[in-house]
Amino acid sequence: MLSHRIFYLKVKWGSMRFLDLFHKIDNIFFMGFPYTRPRRLRKNTLIRDMVAETELSVKDLIYPIFVEFGKGGEVKSMPGVFRYNVRDVGKIAKEVEALGIPAVILFGIPDKKDEVASGAYDEKGVVQEAIREIKEKTELVVIADVCLCEYTSHGHCGVVKNGKILNDPTLELLSKTAVSLAKAGADVVAPSDMMDGRVSAIRKALDKEGFEDVLIMAYSAKYASAFYGPFREAAESAPAFGDRSTYQMDMRNAREALKEVKMDIEEGADIVMVKPALSYLDIIYRVKELTNIPVAAYNVSGEYALIKAGEKLGWVDGKKVMMEVLYSIKRAGADLILTYFAKEVALILKE
Ligand code: PBG
Repeated sequence: MLSHRIFYLKVKWGSMRFLDLFHKIDNIFFMGFPYTRPRRLRKNTLIRDMVAETELSVKDLIYPIFVEFGKGGEVKSMPGVFRYNVRDVGKIAKEVEALGIPAVILFGIPDKKDEVASGAYDEKGVVQEAIREIKEKTELVVIADVCLCEYTSHGHCGVVKNGKILNDPTLELLSKTAVSLAKAGADVVAPSDMMDGRVSAIRKALDKEGFEDVLIMAYSAKYASAFYGPFREAAESAPAFGDRSTYQMDMRNAREALKEVKMDIEEGADIVMVKPALSYLDIIYRVKELTNIPVAAYNVSGEYALIKAGEKLGWVDGKKVMMEVLYSIKRAGADLILTYFAKEVALILKE
């Protein structure tokens, strides 16, 4: 390369002024412009595709599904997202499978809520029924979210006493819930409550019941976020008093996320998750650097709703923004993405 450059220099010698010569010598040693032209790699679609650093595959996607005993309907703040009756969920799951999406994650809206979240670990609970229905109709990987907030009358993710959310008594209920979901056929349980020690409690309970093959995908770095708004409308899970800031993480912290992730791995998590995704890409990146286990990211309801709203107003190109967001999550390091866009993206990736 160097000899080639010296030759080039000789050929051009005649017409060269001192300053040009200076630049040429500079380039020989520092390889800058005009020898290096980044735009060459962007010349056309084929070249761009050949050198693209990030791949987004339908196999990376997990589609969230809301199930209920009622007749269901569209979630107002999430156009294109529905609550489904348990009996319809097999059909929906088949559509998801036909698109090549490998997994769904289930959230349930029970008929009745109480202080101890009975619906969460009821053998005939709404998610338990949905799991059986999906397993009967498809080969999909079925992930069950493990949390109490959809099932408690106060809407908190744990047992409440005197206005306090108690940690250790909650672990028992979470373990019971995880076992019940595994019994119904869940391949993966995903604790999203952010109680301390829930991964080891759930792991122990599953193993004791003979479910050592059931995976745990832990919502390890889950932030107390305003981006969950539309989900809480969909799942009717908004807390009746206070907020979730005594258990979910503070948005100002990054190193603390690494502590949470490390603890969850030590306790037996198979996959760790960062949630939300878009305002926390730096966390995804750091978690990926830290671990050697798969990293998931949750592209949450508010992130979905904002894009849909912008599209509806005609202010942004919704499809393009969607792709940009999903690629950014992958580029940051996510191996898996939970997203309400899964079906839409699958169609685009198929083209
Ligand atoms: C349950 C749970 C929530 C989400 C997933 N599991 C809501 C919350 O923590 O309040 C949010 C998902 C989303 O916004 O898409 N704890």
